[in-house]
Amino acid sequence: MKAMIVAAILAVVSFSSVARADGDAALGKSVFNKCAICHTIDPAKKGLGPTLFGVVGRHSASVAGFSYSEAMKAANKTWDAATLDVYLTDPKALVPGTKMVFPGLSKAEDRANVIAYLSTLK
Ligand code: HEC
Repeated sequence: MKAMIVAAILAVVSFSSVARADGDAALGKSVFNKCAICHTIDPAKKGLGPTLFGVVGRHSASVAGFSYSEAMKAANKTWDAATLDVYLTDPKALVPGTKMVFPGLSKAEDRANVIAYLSTLK
């Protein structure tokens, strides 16, 4: 009986984590086309923006050799999924003065998917 209750709880917990707005990395890969003009996913290559390889969990402005704006250097963020979601909604709202010239992704679904894709880059 106890085991069944535990199993039921586990089932609910794992179901709810799937049902949350967790993104789809495969769909996120095509959303990333919008980022790819400026960002590479190659750890050794920068574009107009810093590489996004390993960005999830990374501290802001921490890619060595990339010349960040003063605003980004002072931002002091950790790029976890929640912070990325806010940033990608409206980059200039989270980091006023950022030199990332990108209006943001207005669809929550696109943000969740691209963040799921970024999470695979490690
Ligand atoms: C027009 C070019 C451009 C586009 C398009 C663009 N970015 Fe950026 N991005 C930049 C630049 C430049 C920076 C550095 C910003 C600064 O120093 O203020 C940056 C910074 C970032 C950072 C912070 C990285 C760090 O190391 O702190 C993240 C995260 C990011 N971009 C994600 C994205 C994602 C995801 C997309 C697509 C949805 C995207 N960007 C689209 C140019 C761009």
